[in-house]
Parts: sequence; structure tokens; C-alpha cells
Amino acid sequence: MTKEAVTIIDHRTGESYDIDLVDGALPAIALRQIKTPEDDFGLMTYDPAFTNTASCRSTITYIDGDKGILEYRGYPIDVLAEKSSFLEVVHLLLHGELPGEDELSQLASVVGENMAVDESMKKFIGGFLSDAHPMGMLISSLACLSTYYPDAKNVDDPQNRLSQIHRLISKVPTLSAYAFRRNAGLSCLDPEPGLGFAANFLRMVFADDDGSYAPDPVLERAMDVLFILHADHEQNCSTSAMRGVGSSYSDPYSSLAAAAAALYGPRHGGANEAVLRMLDEIGPKDNIPAFIDEVKDGKRRLMGFGHRVYKNYDPRAKIIKKLAYEVFEVQGMNPLLDIALELEKIALEDDYFVSRKLYPNVDFYSGLIYQSMGFPTPMFPVLFAIGRTSGWLSQWNEFFDDEDQRIARPRQLYQGSPTRSYEK
Ligand code: CMC
Repeated sequence: MTKEAVTIIDHRTGESYDIDLVDGALPAIALRQIKTPEDDFGLMTYDPAFTNTASCRSTITYIDGDKGILEYRGYPIDVLAEKSSFLEVVHLLLHGELPGEDELSQLASVVGENMAVDESMKKFIGGFLSDAHPMGMLISSLACLSTYYPDAKNVDDPQNRLSQIHRLISKVPTLSAYAFRRNAGLSCLDPEPGLGFAANFLRMVFADDDGSYAPDPVLERAMDVLFILHADHEQNCSTSAMRGVGSSYSDPYSSLAAAAAALYGPRHGGANEAVLRMLDEIGPKDNIPAFIDEVKDGKRRLMGFGHRVYKNYDPRAKIIKKLAYEVFEVQGMNPLLDIALELEKIALEDDYFVSRKLYPNVDFYSGLIYQSMGFPTPMFPVLFAIGRTSGWLSQWNEFFDDEDQRIARPRQLYQGSPTRSYEK
């Protein structure tokens, strides 16, 4: 049988080291035995942006970026998008299995019971400027929510963790809808859990102040599918923030605020917002070649393209593109679609994008759907956050069951001044 080990030769000393692999990976800490001289710190790895470092073991999400595969707990994303509801996927991510009928109705009822927020939270959101970015309002209100649940600090207790997880999955859509209503100058509506997860959210967003709104079943299903597609994506920037902040045993509300803050940036979940602004800015199709030239000259990025892990078409983008047409059938064609299709066509043929393996990602078409559904552009990353909350919390929960995990604390290569005397 082949030995699961590698041999490293240190050419500085001529010493060789056999290092056993752990689950097929090189345990970085084993490099510390490689020293010269004997009393030095030992060898470290240097991996800015963690492009080749596994920070944890996980059983939640599998991605094969070269083949364009994404699976939650072993189920391909396209199958889940076709057959599951978002709450089924929440159960799957959290507990590892699709729920039976009883489990699903229990989850729906606990989520329903937790959807409302304290009246003072409505006032808190009402305190923002009317044009405040809704993602800023969501991040702040998540941190604020931690002050309502001091028991959440007890992160060692699995049952307590699950209660907080249920609260957060239920309340994030409510807070998101209230952020929207603050911008729109509408009053905050109480949730109606009986409508179901997506329909209740759509009602809380789009209903008049008297609560009247009849969600279209196609839009309701599209919303649910979009939540499924965004639910988890293994150790991305925001999930790493969730795990990293959570590793100091902060309460989950504060950790989730940090994860949402990481998502907000235009290179992550804020890209859907940036795509729409880019499409608007390009204007007529004739402007596309000049825009592409600017991208190739490195003056700007083609937003909604490229991915750290996918070097193939993002499987979520394929599903979203199809879903877009279903939404356009109800809401009318989005005029920006033509520009998006043309950009995609050029990018898939142009050597700049082909040689760098830059394909459309999840954010390229999602904004077009959101816009057609009536969401203003700043709400797009908020919609991403509603779906991703389930993944952040599942990953956070998994952290506590992993005995190898400790507080996250990377090392550095110090390049600054050596010790010097203090002289003015
Ligand atoms: N447009 C133009 N060039 C690009 C793009 C882009 N969107 N993305 C990467 N490149 C180029 C980049 O300039 C570099 O070229 P060179 O080798 O000549 O220097 C090369 O491709 C590799 O790029 P990188 O920045 O080293 O790749 P990364 O893995 O660090 O970044 C990314 C990944 C997603 C941040 C990046 O592709 C990007 O900025 N895309 C646009 C923003 C976006 O759509 N983000 C959403 C990601 S998917 C949803 C989510 O999970 O958040």
C-alpha cells in the first residue's frame, strides 16, 4: 500500500523529513520541525488570501471548481433547486439530511414563531437615514439583535446554538424587509408565517401599509430557488468571517453581522449590485466593445464574472439564467438582459476571459431577476444574505463539533523595522 506521506528535503541543512498527510493534506504544523538553526521558530507556510489552505474539515458543501459542480450534503444544486423548498435545504444544511414531513412542519413552525422582532427593533431601523444602504441597516440590526439575547453567548451548548440559529434564520428576512421599508418610507409590517418563508418575505417587502399583497406563485418560487442557490458555498470570504469571528466564542448575532459585512463588498455578495450598475452604465449595446477594452486594459472588472474556485461556468449561474426567463414571463422582459447576453457572448469567446477561465458567476444574472421582481439595486446583497444565513450558521455550528478547531489566528511574515531606540 502507498504510504500517505511526503518527504521534504531541506537543502539548507541536507535534512529530510517524512510528513504524514492528514486526509490527503499536508498538516502545516508539521513543518515547524524543519528548523535551521535548531532553536529557530520552524518553517511556516505563506498563503495570502488562503488560496491553498484548508482551514477546516467540513461535511456541508462540496465544490469541484474545474467541473462546475456544487453539492449540499451530496445533493447536486440543480436537483435541490428543482425539487426542494428553501426550508428543506435549511434542514439539510443544518442537520445533514433532508427533512421528513414531521421534521419539515416542525421547522416551519419554529421558524414561523420566531419571525417577529421586538417593537424596539422597528424603532432602531426607523432611526436610520431614509436613504441608508439596506445592507448597512441589516448588518447593524444583526449586531443590535445580540443585545436582546444574552443567552446566545452560551455557544458551548448545542441546544442553545440551535435555538439561536432558528431565531436568526427567521428574523433575517424580517429585518431585511424592514430595511427595504425604511428606504421606501413604509411602515414595518408584522410577519405572516402561515404564508411560507418566501411568500411572507415578499409580502413584508411589497405589501402596502395595510398589508394587502398577493404574491405571484412564479415569483414566490423564484425567490425560494434564489435562497436555495445562495444558501451555502463552503469556505468563502463571508463564511470564513463567520467561522473566524465565531472562533473567539462571540455570540452568533455578532458573528453573523461580521459575515454579512464581508458579504457586502463588491468582490463578494455586493457583486450583484455592481453588475446592475455596470449594465446601466454601459448603456446601448454599441458601447460594449469599448467597455470590454477597458476591462482588458485592467482599468475595471467585468462584474459577475470570475471566481476563486470555479474555473468553469458557475452551476448556479446556469440555473439563474433559466429562472430569469420564467420571471420575465410574468414581469415582462428586463431590457438589460440584451446587454448581459452580449457581454457574456463576447467574454466566452475573447482570449482575455477564456485564458483566465473567467465565466459568469451567481451574481451575473441574479440582479436582473431581482430588478424585475421590483427590488431596488441596493437590496440585492441583502437578498443574498437571507439565503446565505442558513449556510453561515450551519458552518458556525459545525465549528463547535470539530475538536481540531481553536481560535483563528494566522501568522505573519514580519517585514518591518528591527528593534530600534526611541529618538525624536
Ligand atoms: N474582470 C476582469 N478580469 C478579471 C475578473 C473580472 N471580473 N476577475 C478576475 N480577473 C482577472 C484578474 O485581473 C487577474 O488577471 P491577471 O492574471 O492578468 O492579473 C486574473 O483574472 C485572476 O484574478 P484574481 O483577482 O487573482 O482572482 P481571484 O480568485 O482573487 O478573484 C473574484 C476572484 C471573484 C474576486 C474576481 O474574479 C472578481 O473580482 N470578479 C468580479 C466580482 C464578482 O463578480 N464577484 C462575485 C463572486 S461570486 C459570488 C460570491 O461568492 O460572492
